[in-house]
Amino acid sequence: MTTPAAASATEPRDVVAIDGPSGAGKSTVARRLAEALGFAYLDTGAMYRAVTWGFLQHGCAPAECAGEADRGEQRMRAALAAARLDLRDGKVWLDGRDVTGHLRTREVESQVSAVSALPFVRAAMRDLQRQVARQGPIVAEGRDMGSVVFPQARWKVYLDAAPAERARRRSEDFARQGREVSTQDVLDEILVRDRLDSTRSDAPLRQADDAFYLDTTGLLTDDVVGRLLAFVRGAAATGGSA
Ligand code: DC
Repeated sequence: MTTPAAASATEPRDVVAIDGPSGAGKSTVARRLAEALGFAYLDTGAMYRAVTWGFLQHGCAPAECAGEADRGEQRMRAALAAARLDLRDGKVWLDGRDVTGHLRTREVESQVSAVSALPFVRAAMRDLQRQVARQGPIVAEGRDMGSVVFPQARWKVYLDAAPAERARRRSEDFARQGREVSTQDVLDEILVRDRLDSTRSDAPLRQADDAFYLDTTGLLTDDVVGRLLAFVRGAAATGGSA
């Protein structure tokens, strides 16, 4: 993986860039929006999760290497350089293996914020994300889509929700996966991740200045998708962004 150049004026603009904190409803909404628009869907959180899982397999995730002089950086760089990451058919593949089922484990969840704070990991992911967008229109969701990776995106959205609602949604997700986690524990984890994701020095979670802000607290998914479709179509009709 190579270091990306800064986004240039020639980068593709047919991108719906959706950012926001964990549990704001980005994934479901982004997937449905992509279907409705006929755009590809890019889940960038899944990319960071897959890289984290790969580091765990190599025994060099941040918590495992905290005692090493370089905190495992050389080993992580080597693992990342050798990794083949691929997102297709709604699945995530690492070195030809479908790792989708491993991405939401507690091990990955506990390390992914530390991994996604590493500048060399972010640089490699940005490069890949831009490569995907060059292949055709996409709905891309994450934390830095509108602010850093696709600053030239035609449509930028920031989805938010009250922490208690985000925790409730995440515990429902866990329950669907057969995992019993109390809403209070999920809320505590969400608040820690929010702090880590929004205070890191490289590409912290933040709303792009020109993003359309939507608080999804109390809204049904259908309503959120409907509002975003209206936003994209309205902005397309007037030829601009928010
Ligand atoms: O959206 P998610 O919960 O699957 O994201 C997993 C982690 O990856 C989260 O802690 C933030 C990080 N992430 C990031 O730093 N930048 C992105 N564009 C997407 C996710």
